[in-house]
Amino acid sequence: MSRIGARLTGGPGRRTAADAPTDAPTDAATEAPVAPGRVPLAGHAPWIHRDAPGFFRELRHHGPVTKIYIGPRQVHAVNSHEIVRELLTVQARAFDKGAMFDALRVPLGDGLITAAGDRHLRHRRLMQPAFHHDRIAGYARIMSERSLARAAVWEPGTTLDLVPEIHRLTLDILLRTLFADPQDPELRTAVKDWLSVKYHSMRLALSPLQAWAERLPLPAGWRPPNAGPLRRLVAVQHRIIETYRADGRDRGDLLSMLLAAGGPDGGLTDAEVTDELITLFLAGTGTVSASLAWTLHEISRRPDVQRRIHDELDAVLAGRPPGFEDLPALVYTRQVLTEVLRLHPPSWLLMRRAVRPVTLGGVRLSPGAEVFFSPYALHRDPQLYENPDDFDPERWSHDAAAKAPRHTYLPFGAGSRLCIGEDFAWTELTLALAAFTAHRRLTPAGSTPVRTLVGTVLRPDRLPLTAHARPS
Ligand code: HEM
Repeated sequence: MSRIGARLTGGPGRRTAADAPTDAPTDAATEAPVAPGRVPLAGHAPWIHRDAPGFFRELRHHGPVTKIYIGPRQVHAVNSHEIVRELLTVQARAFDKGAMFDALRVPLGDGLITAAGDRHLRHRRLMQPAFHHDRIAGYARIMSERSLARAAVWEPGTTLDLVPEIHRLTLDILLRTLFADPQDPELRTAVKDWLSVKYHSMRLALSPLQAWAERLPLPAGWRPPNAGPLRRLVAVQHRIIETYRADGRDRGDLLSMLLAAGGPDGGLTDAEVTDELITLFLAGTGTVSASLAWTLHEISRRPDVQRRIHDELDAVLAGRPPGFEDLPALVYTRQVLTEVLRLHPPSWLLMRRAVRPVTLGGVRLSPGAEVFFSPYALHRDPQLYENPDDFDPERWSHDAAAKAPRHTYLPFGAGSRLCIGEDFAWTELTLALAAFTAHRRLTPAGSTPVRTLVGTVLRPDRLPLTAHARPS
């Protein structure tokens, strides 16, 4: 058991009556046990603060559903993949996304990520065609071109911190797939300014001070972030939408699809389109950047894995740029990415809130009850994955992958809230990885270990790598 696990079972500070050990008789049909380690006022927050992913990972030792406290706020943590499946599929309609998303709705509008109930269903149906296979084939050309262009600036023999490079690349790709003319200088500046505002949503969701501030007449811990950048971005988007509506042309981009979307109860209004564009900026940049950064980090330390990627790229591409039609043949490259998203799922902690009385995994929840589950914790559960901390793309070879139980691999979630950008993300990641490795061998630079930054996504703090020319 890891150190945090030992701390949890040993329990810091005073054990309270509520800290019943998991094996104590509990009425499983009504109450989940409280995870040990709860301290007065702060609840479990000190352990979460020290190592949040590790904390959620260790909870499985204390039951399939455990109660944890963030200050006074009670949260049910689901630690079993079967109950996560129940939450995301069978019982999905009994839940919305919860308090963190209510807070995000203020600065971000009500796009697909925050929307609930019928609004979510309607928007999901209207947006789905923009992510259809045929459209992604069109976006793939942009992904390949932009990735090759960025990789080309990286001269052999030089060292670069890839974190900002990758961030620039994913933003560039998203802008060019959303808007056929992304060179609009006002748009670029508005998006950059808006992305630079920190929303700290995960930090607030895990903050005991925030939880107390919501209950006591204290000055609120949360204040809406600077609204200026959002206002400017919305204004630029409205101007662009007007131009598109005026001629009604399909420019091959995502925005054309959002504007063309229609159904029995009409299409998306301009304000709804604006909310969705903002949601896509948020959902489609940090997640892909983190995944690509972790991928380059892992393969830079594994010459054997890089060699197999090189062999595959040489055989499939024979020196030409990678394209959408190559994806089915890049089998090993996909295995590598699948393993990276298991080991480092960017969306490491997901949340729901009961909207009506519901029984989940035998535990009764009242309306308003909050539920957390962690794809990171599931992906590193030794009962689900052998040697879960090892980076082993071989576990996704055809025969091995076929044996994996369902709903144990959740980098993109599942059920009706499954990531709408999943195919977009696989395409972008595969083409970008091919572009960065086809003509280069990568090695880590320096000996300082890469640290994991924990926010809404898990990402490496820095990624200094040296590029070497590959003999052709
Ligand atoms: C590796 C990259 C990505 C990862 C790991 C990822 C992960 C996820 C996860 C886990 C969810 C479900 C959240 C939940 O159930 O609470 C989600 C939802 C979503 N993602 Fe992604 N995502 C990625 C890339 C993208 C991209 C590229 C886009 C768009 C261009 C996108 C747009 C969305 C949207 C709009 C939702 C909300 C879907 C809904 O609620 O119906 N994501 N994503």
